[in-house]
Amino acid sequence: MKLSILSAVGFLLLFHQDSAAGVSHATFGKTANGEEIEIYTLTNKAGMEVTVLTYGGIVASIRTPDKQGHFDDVALGFEKLDGYLGTHPYFGALIGRYGNRIGGAQFTLNDHLYTLKANDNGNTLHGGIKGFDKRIWKASGSTKSSVTLRYTSDNGEEGFPGTLKVSVMYTLTEANELRIHYFATTDKPTVLNLTNHSYFNLAGAGNGDVLKHEVTINADQFTPVDQTLIPTGELRPVKDTPFDFLKPVTIGARIDKDDEQIKFGGGYDHNFVLNRKGSGPEKVAEVYEPSSGRVMEVFTSEPGLQFYTGNFLDGTITGKSGKVYQKRYAFCMETQHFPDSPNKPSFPSVVLKPGTRYRSTTIYKFSTR
Ligand code: GLA
Repeated sequence: MKLSILSAVGFLLLFHQDSAAGVSHATFGKTANGEEIEIYTLTNKAGMEVTVLTYGGIVASIRTPDKQGHFDDVALGFEKLDGYLGTHPYFGALIGRYGNRIGGAQFTLNDHLYTLKANDNGNTLHGGIKGFDKRIWKASGSTKSSVTLRYTSDNGEEGFPGTLKVSVMYTLTEANELRIHYFATTDKPTVLNLTNHSYFNLAGAGNGDVLKHEVTINADQFTPVDQTLIPTGELRPVKDTPFDFLKPVTIGARIDKDDEQIKFGGGYDHNFVLNRKGSGPEKVAEVYEPSSGRVMEVFTSEPGLQFYTGNFLDGTITGKSGKVYQKRYAFCMETQHFPDSPNKPSFPSVVLKPGTRYRSTTIYKFSTR
């Protein structure tokens, strides 16, 4: 009798452990070259779950509850590795060496001209042809709530100087926060701007457009761009423009306005100059989706935020659960230094020198109301 009670308790404990919070990993598939890709699953006690791939450091899913407690995946992407190996617009990816654009695919640093791989109208977008989103990262050190990915980018990779050692730690907290900490060092002066390119739809990935999402961005200014989306160098007040998100406004309210900047972006695809007090992570944005009640808050240590509304999604990609991703089916909030900073001396510096350490933190926090 005693024994069977004990074994029942043991079974319950085991069962509890199985379903408990923590980090587990499994094989996700192989690349064309036969390299094995792993998927890390981070789960917290509330049942929130985030998966991260060693391919591209991709955040492949974010399962979070709505106001009724129903879980849904709010990140666009694919169920299988094949989708990520194919052509897609950086779903969930870790972006480097330089998030967003460098004009003319070149920059000068310490009197030396560096020529980069161009992949976007003669400019370099998101690190070039083979950016960090297409590299295989090594998972090293997972804790009860986090996994760290590491990658060494060779001197000259995509044209960038310096051997760069990068590590990125993804943590899922009990407060339903996905925390992303970036660290890097270099052996030669270089430029660096790391970000994450998750595509969010708080009603669930693939469940319609995001035009009814309400957005707040704590930015008095944004950086207007030319036709190829390179900043002109101006910091323009958002006041009386479709870029004023100081108070909550739906994405759809002004996205089709007869406004030159909106036209250049095909919607929102702009860097906001965040109002900041210090240098640590601060709350800079919030998004609310009324039908699900989901809320996402964004905290960052970065000076800028690229707010992109999936204007280039065009229904050619079928993602998770067979859902087709149409125009404006997602929004991105890419925390960053300003685009083209290497060529804009008036923008905050993106130079990383040997002997110093690059650090950046971004937090996406999920809740409901
Ligand atoms: C960023 C850019 C956009 C677009 C997407 C990916 O948000 O600013 O212009 O390239 O990435 O499609």
